[in-house]
Amino acid sequence: MKVLVVGGGGREHALVHKLSQSPKVEKIYCAPGNAGISYLAECVDIKVGDIEKFKEFVIKNNIDLTVVGPEMPLVQGIVDEFERKGLKIFGPNKKAASIEGSKYFAKQFLSKYNIPTGRFKAFDKYQEALKFLKETWYPVVIKADGLAQGKGVFIVKDFIEAKEVLDLVMKKRIFGTSGDIIVVEEMLFGKEASVFAFVDGKNILPMVTAMDYKKIYEKDEGPNTGGMGSIAPNPCIDKETLDEIIENILKPVVKALQKEGIVYKGVLYTGLMLTKEGPKVVEFNARFGDPETQVVLPLLKTDLVEIIEATLEGKVDKVQIEWEDKKAVCAVIASSGYPGEYKTGFEIKGLENIKEAFVYHAGTTLKEGKIVTSGGRVLGITATGNSYEEAREKVYREIQKINFEGMYYRKDIGIVSQV
Ligand code: AMP
Ligand code: GLY
Repeated sequence: MKVLVVGGGGREHALVHKLSQSPKVEKIYCAPGNAGISYLAECVDIKVGDIEKFKEFVIKNNIDLTVVGPEMPLVQGIVDEFERKGLKIFGPNKKAASIEGSKYFAKQFLSKYNIPTGRFKAFDKYQEALKFLKETWYPVVIKADGLAQGKGVFIVKDFIEAKEVLDLVMKKRIFGTSGDIIVVEEMLFGKEASVFAFVDGKNILPMVTAMDYKKIYEKDEGPNTGGMGSIAPNPCIDKETLDEIIENILKPVVKALQKEGIVYKGVLYTGLMLTKEGPKVVEFNARFGDPETQVVLPLLKTDLVEIIEATLEGKVDKVQIEWEDKKAVCAVIASSGYPGEYKTGFEIKGLENIKEAFVYHAGTTLKEGKIVTSGGRVLGITATGNSYEEAREKVYREIQKINFEGMYYRKDIGIVSQV
């Protein structure tokens, strides 16, 4: 079969890589893709938000299956558009994707069905929000309701900071209409976990758990990023905690979605805080996570196409999913300055010498036959091993062979005693 992957980051490289191992797949296209992906798939120049062009491309090239990486096209309704034309696509429809597209919707949904999460209030009027923020306890978390490229979450320690955020979001409108509503949440404390599950409308098939290293500096200091590394399985989730997550969160979520008349088919990403009172939902995403996918999929033994097809057919409960009994570690190499401003266009050298790890490309492109940087997060170096330490050693040994101007990476990814 012919498959199209929508997106062009490390997550999509991991998806393309896993799909390329399926005996069912003859040809993969990826739009827009990146330099690394171009070794496994034909990269196509279509922008992630251009749903019309994707439809045309899929019809013209007789593509059998489209797999969507990022949230934006899902929230915009790419799945609804494809389904209207009878085209096979993997991901939740627009209504289902609002579980990520609107934080207000997600929080209302969680509280309506008593699914464990932090307390919250939502406001669409500046003055009312201001009044609440004057009276509330701190710290609190303020979030723009809509998509904000991962930048819409602010942890604030007092009223002064809260007012600054409120002014940026509701007065200066730095996120546009995504800031029409703000959600103020209770701050949760504990270890974070990312749990992905295939959801076929009624059944769930959880994947190996993961941990995302969100901060730019070692020991989780500095500003938030899209993710500077990841490990799987998540060392903070034992069997008992996983059962609790499945029984108290994942299963109730899928039941509640059904009650709301929402047909959720695709990957449900639950961001969790493992608090003293048990696991609580921090957020949902309607897709695979990045860079968690770069550690989850390398451990998957079952054919991904088989799982996707079962999900689309509502039969994911029939899949006997198998995982490698190993640990995976991924360290992200970023451009100097990220998550702030950074320069691009630097040649990446040494990739041909990597033996013990897999290099997932994120912000890379081909220029005159050379691989050059084109984004903030540039590469994700993943290795597996019998222990986190073994995987971690491989990752950092291999990173020494890579070189580009201004390359930056955290050196503590996978040190489990520190998580
Ligand atoms: P979100 O986009 O909602 O996942 O938020 C991004 C990150 O902000 C999360 O992964 C957490 O690290 C942090 N965060 C969000 N909400 C909360 C909360 N209620 N309590 C503590 N940390 C939070
Ligand atoms: N790793 C966080 C995300 O994919 O949203």
